[in-house]
Amino acid sequence: MDKLPSELKQLGGKRPIIVTDQGVARAGLLDIVKKAFNGNGNGNGNGSEPTIGAIFDQVPPDSPVSAVHAIVAEYKKNNCDSLLAIGGGSAIDTAKGVKIKLAEESIDLMNFKAVLRMTKPTRPLVVVPTTAGTGSEVTSAAVISDPDKGIKLSLISPSMPPNTAVIDPRMTATLPPRLTASTGMDALTHAIEACLGIQKNPISDSVAKQAIELIANNLVEAVQNGSNLKARLAMANAATLAGIAFSNSMVTMVHALGHSLGAISHVPHGDAMTICLPDTLEFNKDTVGDFLADLLLPMAGMEVYSQTAPAERADRFIECVRQLRQKLHDISGLPITLKQAGVDPAQLQAVADLSPSDGAAFYNRKKFTPAEALQVLQKM
Ligand SMILES: NC(=O)c1ccc[n+]([C@@H]2O[C@H](COP(=O)([O-])OP(=O)(O)OC[C@H]3O[C@@H](n4cnc5c(N)ncnc54)[C@H](O)[C@@H]3O)[C@@H](O)[C@H]2O)c1
Ligand SMILES: [Fe+2]
Repeated sequence: MDKLPSELKQLGGKRPIIVTDQGVARAGLLDIVKKAFNGNGNGNGNGSEPTIGAIFDQVPPDSPVSAVHAIVAEYKKNNCDSLLAIGGGSAIDTAKGVKIKLAEESIDLMNFKAVLRMTKPTRPLVVVPTTAGTGSEVTSAAVISDPDKGIKLSLISPSMPPNTAVIDPRMTATLPPRLTASTGMDALTHAIEACLGIQKNPISDSVAKQAIELIANNLVEAVQNGSNLKARLAMANAATLAGIAFSNSMVTMVHALGHSLGAISHVPHGDAMTICLPDTLEFNKDTVGDFLADLLLPMAGMEVYSQTAPAERADRFIECVRQLRQKLHDISGLPITLKQAGVDPAQLQAVADLSPSDGAAFYNRKKFTPAEALQVLQKM
């Protein structure tokens, strides 16, 4: 963390705007960052070191486009030249939106229909993740919402990933148990889905399997004992590895259902992943059973894997996911059913109708209809 100013300087950034939210600020995490800029947030005064140009600490959840526009205005007003995002996916994705908007002013982010190949240079973006979940610190996606229009879009661009990500377990140590559990299940879902989709390949598999092993061995401990920095570092690394994996081979039906639940029923992303994961894996088992069987090894270890008959490994893997989820529910209150998440059953048809057209559905090996999606949702 102490190297933040020199990392920025190497990228040509002298006056970053800090992009963060109230939860992160209240947890005292900005103080660690300001200290890296010599305690007062104003550089060392000799004019050659980076200086904090402005702080925007009001990013709302789900990165609304209005926050992107407000930050662009602050950035310009304070003559900033770079971006430093401190936070979870909401703060990081908002900063990514700002980066795109600063480079391509004419673009309406909410009309962003395909992969944007940007021609203009982007400003340096350094990020410090404070949740261990989305992997946004390494992905080419930014999820931006427009609550007034009821839309949430995944904007994809090869120039989206941050220039530098600083992974420091002190920055996730303050994350409360319930959020640690929820964001950790998002990371687990990224790693699992990276191993199932049509773009699955040996490179993303190896990274994803390492992430699954780290999560299986450390998520419960990080939830139970948040100040265990070893478990926090393992989870932070796992989230980043899972982000690398799914940025390469993409996510599938669990995310398609989860995005739709987020858009229609406003279920937080990690909670939606937790609720959707096992039943959706079950639905897809006839197509991806062999891949699920392989994942039993990183999830449960060599002893369980070798003692389970090959034909039973996929079921055993799904059972392990259910057991982990139940344990997280018991210790943190993480919702594991749609009812616990407060979803109105009357909304399920709309969620089911939307999910097959979500971008993530394209990468699912088994094509599914709204009627099939509804059946899976009803089990949840
Ligand atoms: N870009 C991508 O590739 C990608 C992938 C998955 C999800 N997302 C998006 O990311 C967003 C969710 O991000 P998230 O799950 O990281 O949650 P978040 O950024 O919305 O943060 C959740 C809450 O935790 C608080 N918080 C964060 N870190 C904290 C800490 N260390 N201590 C105390 N409180 C802390 C925040 O203030 C906030 O209230 C969603 O919009 C989702 O769609 C993006
Ligand atoms: Fe996700």
